[in-house]
Amino acid sequence: MRNFQLKNPTKIIFGKGEMPKMAAELPKDAKILLLYGGGSIMKNGIYDQVKAALKGFEVAEFGGIPANPEYAILMQALKVIKEKNITYLLAVGGGSVIDGVKFLSAAALYEGEEPWDILTKRIRTKKGMPFGTVLTLPATGSEMNSGAVITRKDTKEKRTMGGPGLFPQFSVLDPEVIKSVPKRQLANGLADAYTHVTEQYLTYPVGALLQDRFAESILQTLVEIAPKIMEEDFNYETASNFMWCCTMALNGLIQKGVPSDWATHMMGHELTALHGIDHARTLAIIAGNHYTYTFEDKKEKLAQYAERIWGVQEGTIEEKARIGIIKTTEFYQSLGIETKLSAYTDAYDGTAEIIAKRFADRGWAGLGERQKVTPSDVQKIVEMSY
Ligand code: NZQ
Ligand code: ZN
Repeated sequence: MRNFQLKNPTKIIFGKGEMPKMAAELPKDAKILLLYGGGSIMKNGIYDQVKAALKGFEVAEFGGIPANPEYAILMQALKVIKEKNITYLLAVGGGSVIDGVKFLSAAALYEGEEPWDILTKRIRTKKGMPFGTVLTLPATGSEMNSGAVITRKDTKEKRTMGGPGLFPQFSVLDPEVIKSVPKRQLANGLADAYTHVTEQYLTYPVGALLQDRFAESILQTLVEIAPKIMEEDFNYETASNFMWCCTMALNGLIQKGVPSDWATHMMGHELTALHGIDHARTLAIIAGNHYTYTFEDKKEKLAQYAERIWGVQEGTIEEKARIGIIKTTEFYQSLGIETKLSAYTDAYDGTAEIIAKRFADRGWAGLGERQKVTPSDVQKIVEMSY
């Protein structure tokens, strides 16, 4: 096992009817900006619950943060934060709203001229404006981690940022919110959380037995609940397991002391930036091909995964590992998710070259757990995904 440090300061307030408890987490004199997305919270009652919880606080609002939070819109929100002397941010939404708020938390205290530099120059945020979240869609784990992904339409870019100052102070996780989430987004949530685990697990063995079993327990739980989430009506027990899996998949715990990959995510972000494909679906397009391309480096963990998650007992390491890859692609497909780029766009020609060039320009010489996946490898993996 590798050396590690673990600190996660986010307080989780989990369960049905727990929304009012957020009031105790907010400073009494806070000037709060409540931020939300395209308006789903107005229709499903979440807005009313949040407003009731915020009774007595000074609250301004900013709505309209789109899926794949857009820099230009966030810059409008930054203006509101400065004009109204806001001191506390409250994200009510899925990963996009929460990530948008993380960017604003960093940008509000940023002393440089161009906040986009936080993303392109990879400036880590040690201290941001304090914020909390009310999660409305289980998927990203953003509610309990310190990373964010921001999109810029004019340049077709999607970049990551983060730092220890960007953990939410608290996150309210009420599984009841899942009632109004469309099936397409539920499928995205399952696929995203699943891939978060595989990015931190399908690498190479380092004798971290507990971390492996943490990861496997999340994968097994997701596999078990996926058909129920997709096919059945809302069920509180299933919803609560789903929500907690998504949070645990990317709150830092399973990553400690082990290598992690993230190449699938980096390639996937480019597919969203270039073609507007939902985040989770980009992962389903890339993952299987990435594992096939890097097979020799990953086969031991792939075989363990095939054995422990999919019950594959027969065959050599290589044979089991190959089945593991097929099972992964089949899992995405069982959620109704297409796993080929050409199923999403006719204009895929040239995508691989553009992504490889972008990575080379950014100096990303080697991705993955061994820092071995070069821009030219990336080109081949993306081509395999057409
Ligand atoms: O905008 P509204 O009206 O809220 O509608 C949203 C949006 O259209 C809707 N929705 C959310 N909660 C709902 C609901 N509809 C009905 N009822 C509810 N309770 O769902 C749509 C998608 O929302 P979005 O927030 O975009 O989805 P998700 O949570 O999947 O977030 C995706 C974003 O997070 C980033 C992705 O790249 C993408 O930009 N990620 C963030 C990560 C992180 N910070 O750790 C890690 C991930 O790997 C990922 O990259
Ligand atoms: Zn993801």
